[in-house]
This record gives sequence, C-alpha cells and structure tokens, in this order.
Amino acid sequence: MPNTLKKVPQLQIIRNIFKFLTNPIPIIDQNFKDFGEPSFRLNMGAMTKSVITKDPELIKYIMQKNNRNFKKSILQTEHLASFIGKGLLTSNGDYWLQQRRLIQPGFHKKSLDSFVRIMSKEVVTFNNYLSNKIDQGDGELLMLKEMSRLALIMVAKTLFSGSITEEQITSIGNKVDYLQAEVVVKIRQPFFARWRKLSGRDAKNKKLAQSLYDLLTEIISERRESGEFKNDILDMLQGARYEGTDDGMTEKQILDECLVLFAAGYETTANALSWTFYLLDKNRDKLALVQKEISENEIDPNNPMASIMKLDYIRQVISESMRIFPPAWIIDRVAIENDSFNGINLYNDEIINLYVYGVHHDPQYWENPAVFEPARFERDKLKSIKAYTYFPFGGGPRLCIGNQFAMMEMQLILYTLLKNFDFTLKEGHVVEMLPGVTLRSKNGIRMMASRR
Ligand code: HEM
Repeated sequence: MPNTLKKVPQLQIIRNIFKFLTNPIPIIDQNFKDFGEPSFRLNMGAMTKSVITKDPELIKYIMQKNNRNFKKSILQTEHLASFIGKGLLTSNGDYWLQQRRLIQPGFHKKSLDSFVRIMSKEVVTFNNYLSNKIDQGDGELLMLKEMSRLALIMVAKTLFSGSITEEQITSIGNKVDYLQAEVVVKIRQPFFARWRKLSGRDAKNKKLAQSLYDLLTEIISERRESGEFKNDILDMLQGARYEGTDDGMTEKQILDECLVLFAAGYETTANALSWTFYLLDKNRDKLALVQKEISENEIDPNNPMASIMKLDYIRQVISESMRIFPPAWIIDRVAIENDSFNGINLYNDEIINLYVYGVHHDPQYWENPAVFEPARFERDKLKSIKAYTYFPFGGGPRLCIGNQFAMMEMQLILYTLLKNFDFTLKEGHVVEMLPGVTLRSKNGIRMMASRR
C-alpha cells in the first residue's frame, strides 16, 4: 500500500528547532495548515521518526480497534518508569493488563464514594485557608500553584488518608514535579544524553527518585505495622488479589502503583482546574450559569457523591475547558508490527503522536473552536460527538483509570470555591500555554480572589 503521508522537510525542522523545543503547538498547527491533511510525518533527527495525526478514524484504529499492535513509547515506559517505577501508567503488554485488571475495581463507584468523602474534608480545609488569606489582605494567588497543591493533597489523602503528613506531601510534590520536568528535557534534548551522564545529572535524578521510594516505603510500612484499615487507595491496593488466586502485589509493586497514581493524578487535574478558573473569568455569562447551579444545589455531607453528580452544568464547563486546554495535549504510541490504515503505512520503529489538542480545535468537528461554550456537552448532545474528536482522558483499554475520580474532584472543588469566592485575572497578567508532559500555563495564571 502506498505511503501517502507528507513529510516536514529536515531543513525546516532545523530552522524551527528552538521554537519547537519551547512550544511545539504553533509549529505543529502550522504544518497541518501547510499540508492541509490530517496526518503528516516529522522526523526529529535520524533516530526519532514520527507521525503526527489529528485524524479521529486513525486515532480510533490505534487506541481501540487495533490497540494490541500499539504500545506506549519509551517516554513513559523507560524514561518516566526509570524514576517512578513500572506501574499502570508506565508499563505495556501482559504486565499492564494484569495490573489494570487488578486495580480497575478499586476505582468503581463504591470506592469512589469513600474517596469523595475524603476529598470533601480536604476542600473545606482549603476553603478556610483561602478565607484566612483574604482576611489578611492577601487575595492574590497563582492559580496553577494553588490547584497543584490542592490536587496533590487530594491524591495524597485518598491514597494514604491520615498516614501522610503535610511535610511529606510537599516533599513528594516537589520531587515528582522535578523528575517529570527532567523527563521532558530528556525527550526534547536527546543530543545532550552523554553530557547528562558525565555531569552527574542522571545520578542526581536517580538519587532523588530513590528518596521518593524511601519516603513512600516509610508511610506504607507504618500503615502495615499499625494494622489499621482506612478505606483509602492504599488499603484497596493491599487488599487486591489477582484473578482466581489469593495472591496480591509485592511491596515493590504497591510502591510503584502508588507513585504512578501520584504522578498521573495531580498535575493533570491541577492544570484542568486552573484553566477552568481562567476561562470562567473570561466568560462571565457562563460563570453566572455556574453560580445559578450552585445556588440551586447543596452538597449533602452524608452523601457527597450523589450531590456532585447533580452538578451537570459544572460538568459541562469542565468538559469544555478540557476541550480547549486538554491537560494530556498529545498521546503517543509505537506500532509493534508494521501496520497500515486507509493507505497510511505505520512502521514499527516510529512514534505515532495522537494530537489531542489539534482534534479538539479542528473546525471540522467543532464550530468556532476557540469559543468557550459548555453547552456543547449537554447530555442530549453527547451522543452526536463523533468518536475520538474529544478524548481528554484517552480511549480504548488504556482510558484514564482516574477519569471519574478526577471529574468528581474537579466538580467538588469548583462548586466549593466558586460558592464562596470570586476569581479575576490580575490586571496585566499574560496567560500563555506551555506544553510539557501536560499542557500548563507558562506564568501560572495569576488571579485575585475575593469573598462573594
Ligand atoms: C483532569 C485530570 C486527568 C486527565 C486529563 C487525565 C488524562 C489521562 C490520559 C489521557 C490517559 C491515557 C494516556 C495514554 O493513553 O497514553 C491517562 C491515563 C492514566 N491516568 Fe489519568 N488523567 C487525569 C486524572 C487522573 C487521576 C486523578 C488519576 C488517579 C487518581 C489518574 C490515573 C491515571 C492512570 C493510572 C493512567 C494509566 C492507565 C492505564 O494505562 O491503564 N489520572 N490519564
């Protein structure tokens, strides 16, 4: 079958290399415009051959129809795994499937219910912190920083309940942030690999990763010794048994999965939340609809999950925010064997980048894609959204395991904070996208909080 994909000329890549390393989105978008086709080839040097696609049919083929022939690239399964171990997010093949089957039930409705109860307490604590801050005349905040802290606490407390201290949470957050940034550097600057080894940077990172393990080992051992049962994710992981056996995970496996949940579970959520606060400030008519929903609904402390599920407009707002700013803005796969789809050859050594951001902004599928319009996600319209034109949580068997967890958490946070506070972008603050492992805002979104 002929290979019909156009290729970005090598000279153009070299010319744009620095812009590409800082923010690849405008360059990728320009390539799509120039080629006028939904997929093209881009080879970063002789070693890294890649396809970039925003074709929902091809994406569906890769993520779903023929997913067995596509694995995750070494970005997660080697580079990230070298820091946070082999867990759900960072493994492939049979091992991944075995872990997914083991852990999936822990994210079903019953467990979510107890996680939401833990989250409800934490959001009140954050609410009080913000109140005090405002009372002291300090309403200015970096939204991304505050949401990162809150999402980190949410994941830490649902994992370890009361067994983790504030200090430990901060330490884990700093280390995971740093190591994730190092992964991006490693991927975008493969030519400095030798220098990183010689300069001791690799060794320093390894040491940092080990200290993360030591910290978590301490927390898990203390829990084991205490014999307490807290109905949190750690209890779920410790109690899970492989199908048809009495065997659970080893201590190392539990550690790896805990670290993976930390790494996967808070940066994405923090980004989605901070972009949502920004979009609501820019679109005050939509904020008014959120406020209306808040005034008509109470969260029942005895059954918070049922109350949160009724917050349907807030759900639409979050969905639309993740369309415009998808935290996982690009997802990669590698073909295990040569493959072809609709005349496109996919070779077993090349990375196929599923360009989530591009599909979410394609006017073929989204009318006025730059406009923030939560009503696109009204319940009765959901069925008419074409498959893989909207996939902030991925798709197929590797769909985000924490998707409902994240939605509940974000609805709860938005409800609570918008009920009590108003947030406006600080005058003169410039908001800019910074795509790394996730789609962050470059300057963190500086806002002013005031009491409602
Ligand atoms: C807004 C928040 C979130 C977004 C946008 C998001 C997005 C994603 C995406 C796109 C994937 C698939 C990646 C791929 O196919 O290569 C994924 C996987 C995953 N996510 Fe999330 N995620 C979010 C929150 C969470 C939370 C809160 C948790 C855990 C508490 C979590 C845990 C995971 C795990 C473990 C995987 C790997 C699943 C597997 O491969 O079996 N995520 N996430």
